[in-house]
Amino acid sequence: MFGRRTAPLETPPVSAQSVAKPKAGAKTSAKPAAKTNATPSKSSTPPPPPRVDNAKAEKASQNTADVGGRGEDYFKTKTTIFNALIDTIDLSQLSQLDTESAAEEIRDIVNEIISIKNVSMSIAEQEALLQDICNDVLGYGPLEPLLARDDISDIMVNGANRVFIEVGGKIQLTNVRFRDNGQLMNICQRIVSQIGRRVDEASPICDARLPDGSRVNVIAPPLSIDGAALTIRKFKKDKLRIDDLVNFGSISPEGARVLEIVGHCRINTLISGGTGSGKTTLLNCMTSFIEHDERVITCEDAAELQLQQPHTVRLETRPPNLEGQGEVTMRDLVKNCLRMRPERIIVGEVRGPEAFDLLQAMNTGHDGSMGTLHANSPREALQRIESMITMGGYNLPSKTIREMIVGSIDVVIQAARLRDGSRRITHVTEVLGTEGDTIITQDLFVYDMSGEDDDGNIVGKHMSTGIARPAFWDRAKYYGKEAELAGALDAASE
Ligand SMILES: Nc1ncnc2c1ncn2[C@@H]1O[C@H](COP(=O)(O)OP(=O)(O)OP(=O)(O)O)[C@@H](O)[C@H]1O
Ligand SMILES: [Mg+2]
Repeated sequence: MFGRRTAPLETPPVSAQSVAKPKAGAKTSAKPAAKTNATPSKSSTPPPPPRVDNAKAEKASQNTADVGGRGEDYFKTKTTIFNALIDTIDLSQLSQLDTESAAEEIRDIVNEIISIKNVSMSIAEQEALLQDICNDVLGYGPLEPLLARDDISDIMVNGANRVFIEVGGKIQLTNVRFRDNGQLMNICQRIVSQIGRRVDEASPICDARLPDGSRVNVIAPPLSIDGAALTIRKFKKDKLRIDDLVNFGSISPEGARVLEIVGHCRINTLISGGTGSGKTTLLNCMTSFIEHDERVITCEDAAELQLQQPHTVRLETRPPNLEGQGEVTMRDLVKNCLRMRPERIIVGEVRGPEAFDLLQAMNTGHDGSMGTLHANSPREALQRIESMITMGGYNLPSKTIREMIVGSIDVVIQAARLRDGSRRITHVTEVLGTEGDTIITQDLFVYDMSGEDDDGNIVGKHMSTGIARPAFWDRAKYYGKEAELAGALDAASE
């Protein structure tokens, strides 16, 4: 059978170790071994002992999310069968097959091993095992069932034995685990090699993307002490829209109308928030208010935005190669954008000296440009922009930088992930001007938390602060949206 070593399975082998390895040269094919990154690891290193072994960990394990109902016995059986499969199969030949035929081949052999070893399992268990083993050899192994679930927003792997997921804003430990750190490293390598990168001891940090667009970060040993740490921000095929945000209570309907006016009237906007607070989602929603005849250029580290406008150019940064060359930074992209006749520039995440270029773009005729950044409040967001510019080595007095900020940014929208896991827009704030050395801001909308319900969910309300005429009133008027703006603000203050 193609993809299988010629040496027949000995019958009946009683343990994984007794499956005979064929003698050298006993393979069916004379073809050179194809370069494959699908080689599963069969490291004999035992999994490291769990790091935390205290009452807290006990409690956490009781709350473990069950993915596929795999127990301890299942993992033991799987390891035995998997080892027998690796002894039987010729991986270099397997790599010549297309995925479907390779899966078919693996299923045949695994079924054979199960019957030879007389493993008793139900049809459903056997099917789950077959699927798991195919995933291990051909796909992303234990990650596959998690990647298939649309309700998971993040997958966080802390070494082979601890896999966490975020569902509905809450982080849970799962019972998913890797055979050992070797298998985990193999899967990390498989992921990053798809985009021509590698991760190993020599280059232990790597950003990558799954074919479905999910954002991946790997940090491998020796930097990560207890085995590779793999973080995946799952790509949501159906991105949340502003109506979804309203339905979730992330923003009130009136607040959403104000955001729509901000997006439509080409008001320069900064979206600020903590990690995973929904900044990119919100930015994506804001871009939906852009007119379809505008030329929009997006700059991102990993393309996440899904703009609907036909006239969009998507740009992505590039890390340096192994020789440390060829890096294209966010600043390079933003600077280049200015030569591309953009009407709006959208920066996925501002985190360095590109802040200066974005501000320049904002006040040199690219109105309605937007960007996100990590900060815990609108005020802090403005301070961060200032420090990014200072650290970029521009040598400008802070008064000048602040004036530049005030002249460029009109509105800061603050997103937050609250302690109950919900995401809320907590502030819509205008940047008004400077008074002496201080930047003056004015909140239009705030989220007022009033308490917690019996289930621990945070209860609160989005409230207008009573400002009837925001500073961008004239701009709204210019776009014929002033009545709508007045209506939304009136309704929100009732
Ligand atoms: N208002 C919301 N309600 C519910 N889920 C949300 C909301 N906004 C975002 N999410 C979900 O939260 C996850 C994180 O969102 P997003 O990528 O927008 O966060 P982020 O702030 O950009 O994160 P990072 O700091 O990592 O870039 C996604 O799975 C997204 O679908
Ligand atoms: Mg983001």
